[in-house]
Amino acid sequence: MLLRFVKAALSGRKLQHARAGPAENPLVSWYRDHTGRSVHKVYGYLEIYHRHFARYRGRSPVLLEIGVNFGGSLQMWRDYFGPGCRLYGVDIEPGCKAFADEATTILIGDQADRDFLARLRKDLPRPDILIDDGGHRMEQQIATFEELYPHIADDGVYLCEDLHTSYWDRFGGGYRKDGSFVEFSKRLIDQLNAWHWEGEQESAVNEFTRTSHGMHYYPSVLVIEKRRMQPPKQIKAGRSML
Ligand SMILES: C[S@@+](CC[C@H](N)C(=O)[O-])C[C@H]1O[C@@H](n2cnc3c(N)ncnc32)[C@H](O)[C@@H]1O
Repeated sequence: MLLRFVKAALSGRKLQHARAGPAENPLVSWYRDHTGRSVHKVYGYLEIYHRHFARYRGRSPVLLEIGVNFGGSLQMWRDYFGPGCRLYGVDIEPGCKAFADEATTILIGDQADRDFLARLRKDLPRPDILIDDGGHRMEQQIATFEELYPHIADDGVYLCEDLHTSYWDRFGGGYRKDGSFVEFSKRLIDQLNAWHWEGEQESAVNEFTRTSHGMHYYPSVLVIEKRRMQPPKQIKAGRSML
């Protein structure tokens, strides 16, 4: 540990990277050491991010985050993914423009405005990762998903966080309330499995079915991993024992 500390200090690398041992989540050490712009996440999210995003580290991903606030999470993503990553931040507050730099584009607009989202589709490269950490209202999360999920790269990741608002009246949610994002997403589980619907399979399989590999639910977070899918194929091996 001491040797790594000295090497990092000599090479000018940030200490937080030196402290992150192989088994440690670098986002945890980043958070521990961060003194820059304010970032506000839930502790349990760090494990989820690292689980689904680690494969992009050092590989210059395109990341779109809805919800910039004080710009701290964009700083976190830059440090986590490396200097080659291309960041796009969306916020409704014009003041967030201040967080733009040569590798970070800030777009001002309302994530519930489908025309604005259509412009994003037109103007932005297909993101490898989209994080919805915006207003957390039902209509915002649903519009953002419907308009931008198809635009995510074929092997990309869509992450919507703070799903607890699906249970909160003041955000348009409520327990098992029709129209909450959680209820909306439960229908996507059926769609993921549309290959197996009896009777109407031809019409049931849609673009979501064909482009989605897995839905991962955590407390307050849904992660959907994309992949070009084929109809399920049975594979058998070995002898049947009587
Ligand atoms: C939770 S904060 C984002 C925090 C930031 N990602 C971080 O981790 O530090 C939510 C942000 O969403 C923005 N927001 C709220 N409603 C929005 C909307 N309809 N469209 C776009 N952004 C919105 C707010 O202005 C606020 O900056």
